[in-house]
Amino acid sequence: ISICGIDQAAGELRIVYRVAGEGTKEFSTYQAGDHLDVMGPLGNGYTLKDKKAILIGGGIGIPPMLELAKQLKCEKSIVLGYRDETFLKEEFEELGDVYVSSDLGTIGIKGTVLDAIREYSVEGEIIYACGPMPMLRAVKAYAAAKGMEAQISLEERMACGIGACLGCVCKSKEVDPHTHVNNKRICKDGPVFDAEEVEI
Ligand code: FES
Repeated sequence: ISICGIDQAAGELRIVYRVAGEGTKEFSTYQAGDHLDVMGPLGNGYTLKDKKAILIGGGIGIPPMLELAKQLKCEKSIVLGYRDETFLKEEFEELGDVYVSSDLGTIGIKGTVLDAIREYSVEGEIIYACGPMPMLRAVKAYAAAKGMEAQISLEERMACGIGACLGCVCKSKEVDPHTHVNNKRICKDGPVFDAEEVEI
C-alpha cells in the first residue's frame, strides 16, 4: 500500500495498492462514495534537501516517489524498477528524467534499478528510495560506496501503527531510547530512515 499523492487543499490522498491478502482484497471491493475510518498520518516522511537527487522506486515502492518528485523542486533523476508492466511512468516523465529497469527486460534495461543507474550513468548527491528490502539493501550499499546520503523507506507488517506493539521493528545502529535495544520501530521512528541508521 503506497501513498501516491497528497492534495491538502482538497483533503485528498491518492493510494496505490497491490492485492496481496485479505485486507487489500477488501480494498478492491470498495466503491466511490464508501466511507472509511483512517488513522493518520503516522510516522515520518522524507526530509527534503536542496541537493541534486536520485529518486529510486521499486515495485509497489514506485508510487510514493511521485508525490516526492512533485515536492522536490531541485534537479532530479527518477529511476523506476518494474517487474514487467509500467504504471505511473507518464506522470513521472512530467517531473524529471526517468530511467527504467525491469526484471524481464520488457521495458527499460533488464536488471535492477542499480543496473539502470550504472547503465545510464545517473548521478546525484542524495538518494531517496522506496521498494523491496533486497533493493533497499543494494541502495544502502551503493550509497555507502559512493559516500552519498540516502533516505530509505522501509516496509513491514504493522499491527498498531503507533509504536506500541513492537511488531514492526528493524535493527538499528544505535540503541533506541524507547526499547533500550538496537531497534527502530518502522511505524513510529520511520518508515523513512537514513540508510546508515538501520541494519537491513
Ligand atoms: Fe506496532 Fe509498529 S506496528 S510498533
